Amino acid sequence: MNKTAIITGGGRGIGWAISRRLAKEGYNAAILGSSDQACYGETIKELGQYGIKYKYYKCDIANHGSREETVLGIVEDFGAVHVLVNNAGVAPQKRMDLLEMTEESYDRVMGINTKGMLFFTQAVVRQMRRQEPVGQKRGTIINISSCSAEVVSRTRGEYCISKAGISMITKLFAERLAGEGIFVHEVRPGIISTNMTSAVKDKYDKMIQEGRFPIARWGKPEDVANAVSVLVGDEFLYTTGNYIDVDGGYHLKTL
Ligand SMILES: NC(=O)c1ccc[n+]([C@@H]2O[C@H](COP(=O)([O-])OP(=O)(O)OC[C@H]3O[C@@H](n4cnc5c(N)ncnc54)[C@H](OP(=O)(O)O)[C@@H]3O)[C@@H](O)[C@H]2O)c1
Repeated sequence: MNKTAIITGGGRGIGWAISRRLAKEGYNAAILGSSDQACYGETIKELGQYGIKYKYYKCDIANHGSREETVLGIVEDFGAVHVLVNNAGVAPQKRMDLLEMTEESYDRVMGINTKGMLFFTQAVVRQMRRQEPVGQKRGTIINISSCSAEVVSRTRGEYCISKAGISMITKLFAERLAGEGIFVHEVRPGIISTNMTSAVKDKYDKMIQEGRFPIARWGKPEDVANAVSVLVGDEFLYTTGNYIDVDGGYHLKTL
């Protein structure tokens, strides 16, 4: 029997690389996004080549009703959930200095990146706990936060706060669920070439040229997918609540 993975924001960018990678490894894929089916319906047909079951669900992660309905639908369609990758996320629509940041932008970013992700996880965990373990695992949850969980960006404070929140959510769920065979990890990407970073491409190109990243290149969505793939496997059964930086070494402090 194939295991089933939910990938939020799984239809494009980093999420799509994760969906493809897990499908290739034989996971059924429940792919979520807030856009209509028409946006991703054609793209995700590519997963058919791996002989797995896949389906796209329109789900606004910030909306309680949408989250609950989607989890019920996934369980009805796939029978069980073994992996949850919390990847959906947004940047502020407009970068503004911390002293100008608006409550509207704060609520939007936190509502999707942190609150939505937290309560979606809660709904999925309720399902995972009802399932029998497979080997030593009942489930794996991977939270895609960011180097912004640590790094200060004064023109997108709400994003940094939302990602720092994900780090604590990771630790909370890891501790709460360790005794139940559910493993929880965090992946912190650096600058990854996707739609999210396209608007600030020049800024980051320049930083790379200036040698600000020890590994001097853009990250690829596949770099993040590779880390997720390792963490969802059975190699780390005495490890939970950890994070891994996928940032070209950007987190390293130098003197
Ligand atoms: N790119 C980077 O450099 C970078 C660095 C660090 C961390 N990250 C994090 O990695 C994750 C993926 O980023 P990305 O670069 O791949 O971004 P992206 O290309 O903009 O994709 C974002 C994904 O999130 C989904 N999403 C947005 N709002 C949603 C909502 N309300 N409900 C459900 N899904 C929603 C989008 O789907 P719809 O458009 O259909 O809603 C899309 O699939 C994000 O959490 C981001 O913060 C990215």
